[in-house]
Formats: sequence, C-alpha cells, structure tokens
Amino acid sequence: MSDPYFQQLFAERIGGARYGKDSAIYKFEKIKRAKRLALAEHPERRLLDFGIGENDSMAAESVRQVMAEEINRPENRGYADNGIGLFKEAVCRFMQRTYGVALDPATEVNHCIGSKTALAMLPAMLINPGDLTLMTVPGYPVAGTHTAYYGGSVYRLPLLAENGFLPDLESLPADVRQRAKLLVLCYPNSPTGRTAPPEFYERVVRFARENQLVVIQDAAHALLSFDRKPNSFLAVPGARDVGVEVHSMSKGFDMIGWRMGWVCGHERLVRAFADVKDNCDSGQFIAIQKAAAAALDDASIPRQIRAKYQRRLKKLVAMLWRCGFPCTMPGGTYFLYTPAPIGLKNGGLKNGGLKGGDLGRRISFETAEAASQYLITQQSICTVPWDDAGAYLRFSVTYEAADEAAEDRLMAETEARLMEIGPLFSPDILE
Ligand SMILES: Cc1ncc(COP(=O)(O)O)c(C=O)c1O
Repeated sequence: MSDPYFQQLFAERIGGARYGKDSAIYKFEKIKRAKRLALAEHPERRLLDFGIGENDSMAAESVRQVMAEEINRPENRGYADNGIGLFKEAVCRFMQRTYGVALDPATEVNHCIGSKTALAMLPAMLINPGDLTLMTVPGYPVAGTHTAYYGGSVYRLPLLAENGFLPDLESLPADVRQRAKLLVLCYPNSPTGRTAPPEFYERVVRFARENQLVVIQDAAHALLSFDRKPNSFLAVPGARDVGVEVHSMSKGFDMIGWRMGWVCGHERLVRAFADVKDNCDSGQFIAIQKAAAAALDDASIPRQIRAKYQRRLKKLVAMLWRCGFPCTMPGGTYFLYTPAPIGLKNGGLKNGGLKGGDLGRRISFETAEAASQYLITQQSICTVPWDDAGAYLRFSVTYEAADEAAEDRLMAETEARLMEIGPLFSPDILE
C-alpha cells in the first residue's frame, strides 16, 4: 500500500515519517495477542485473567440514581468549563474528612476528565525544551510522554525492593537535580503496591525546596490503602507549597468509565493547570460531576471497595505463596507485584501443551515478559510483566467473580495449574 501524501508530515513526537510503519509490538498488545492465542488453542481451558487493571463493579446504585435524575435536568446540559462549585465543595469535604487536608474550593481544586488527562496536561505548565521530569519506574508513563512532547526528557528513578520501592532521591547527580522541573510520584504505587509513609513525603518536600522543583503526586489509588490509613501528600507540612496531588474517582469509587478526577494543591499551580485544561476541553458533563459529588459524600463506598480488594489480595497472596512465589501482601492498590519465576520444575509436562521435543526439558525465563507469555499461552493465566527494574509479574484482583465462592474457585483453579508446573525463583530473591 502506498503512503498517503501526508506521511512525511507526521510530527517526530509520534515517529515522524515512520509513523504507522513500526513493527514493534508493545506490551499490552502482546498480552492481547497471547490471550487470543490461548483462547483459540485451548477453548476448553478457562482463561484466568489477572491482567485487567480496571474495577470489576459498576458504580454504587446511589450514585447511578443521582446520575439518572441529573441527566434529565436542562440546567446540566451545557459546557462545564473548569467545573462546578458543587463538585469542588464536595472534594473539599472529602479531603478534610479522609485526609485531614483543608482546601479552598475556589482556588485550590479543579476537576479533570479522569486523572489521566490531568497527568497529560500538567507538563504543559512547566516543561520547556531541554527540561527534565523525574519519574519513577515502573510506573504510569503519561506525564513522561507529554514531557517528551514538549521537548523535555524523562529521568528514570527505579523503584527497587532494596529501597522499599521508594525512589532514592538523595543519590541523584547534581546536574539532574539542576535541570529537573518536575518530580512525578505515585503512592499508593502502581504497580509495586507500596504506600508512602509521611516521613517519605517530608523528605520529598525538603528535596523539592532544595532543588526548586514541582511535585506531582498521582493519588489515583489513594483510597486502596491497606497497611496504613489512606493518606495524602498534602497532609504533610509544606507539601502545598511545592506541588499538587492528582485524584481520581476511578479506582476508589468504581467510577472508571465516568471520567472524573481533580487536581488540588498550590493555588498558582491549580490555576496554571486550569488554564491549560481550558485550552484542551470544556469540562466533564455536569450530571457526572453531581453524581461524583454524591459519591464523595458517601464514605461507605470506598470502604466497601477497599475491603473487597483487600480480601481478594489476601487470598491471592496466600495461594501464590503456597505455589512458591516469594510474595507478601501489598500495602495498597489492587495489584500484587511479585518476582517473576525464572523457570519451571515441570515445564508444562501435562498441562502446558508443549511439543514432543520439549517434553521433560526444564523451562527457564530470562525476563518477566517471557514468564508472562508462557503463563498466558501455555496455562491460560494472564498477568502483566514488568522488566523495568527487575523482573516482576503484576497480578490484578479486578477479575470478575460474582461472590466469595467464585473467588475461591478461581484461586483453586489457579493454584492447581501453578502447582503442576512448579515455578522456580531466583535464590537471591528467596533469601
Ligand atoms: C497510577 C495511575 N494513575 C492514573 C491513572 C488514570 O486513572 P483515571 O484516568 O481513570 O483517573 C491510572 C489508571 O490506570 C493509574 O493506574
């Protein structure tokens, strides 16, 4: 097929004239393809899907009820621009009640159409060509992608088990500290599941002041905190002077598809965000903002969601532990991030569907991606691999299961398949 006349016109940030010709397959596409293959080759085998990163339940009935009423009110029909006061006031009540953070609804809060869009827009307010954004890896890459769109670059801060999955800010070279304008954090951390102690946030505030940079704390998973009460960066003294926190209705309120979140913190940064946003969208549908405000006022919603995912994570950790995985309960999020197996004792002898020559041969995996591909294609167990800072698999507990008995059946089936192949782990990790 010949190229369209505009092939040469594509911007470098998306690949320039090579756009659309790249044959590399990216991680989530590889997973999708492997799932399709597993379903085609083993239709008899149920796909055990721990790969999905989306809540499995609908928003609470009370919230849907508000939406159903508000959708018919003519006053909700128009552009919402930078958001309605009623939502901002609900955010302030929620932030005060949940985190002890007092905010001014008029100047220190602005809604966004899901936190992804806010993370995409925030670099626009600070990044000039040549500037640096410090980002933790593994992590949610959106702010980094947009940093690069503006001619900046990303400096990666690896999250390692030996540092408790907190970035080692103190070891950053002087030139990096000097060029950095933004530090993007995410706690409770996706995918590692680590939560942030207030002392870490205090260090971050000091680091930001010393190095004159702005902090963006991504709190998308904030309400899914198990090893400590849900906490906010903004609750730490001085945090409001150095940055903003980005919140989401998606995970903690089962409102993934509703696209609602907010940015809060320093008044000047919130205003800069609102200015950028005003040039990108015209605000979320007011009926959705009103339903989200009702959700924020009901503390029982996040409590129930947290209890469900905590219960499921406990079952998952206990089951994987029995199968040899060196895993512990995550502090937060609905993900378990656990070292990937380096091989198998019984590489698919019965269940694996390997061809004759492979029978009896011990299988080894060089990367988490290789382990994950094996688990999907040979065992119909879907996980997400991370090889950015060590080889890890992410198991999500957002699978569909109607009740606790269904959760237990899913665990039992996963355990039977894993026990049969006998995952092996690096001795370093097991020590
Ligand atoms: C760490 C993190 N931040 C932000 C988001 C974006 O969430 P939303 O746009 O639904 O608010 C996600 C979604 O998966 C996430 O995992």
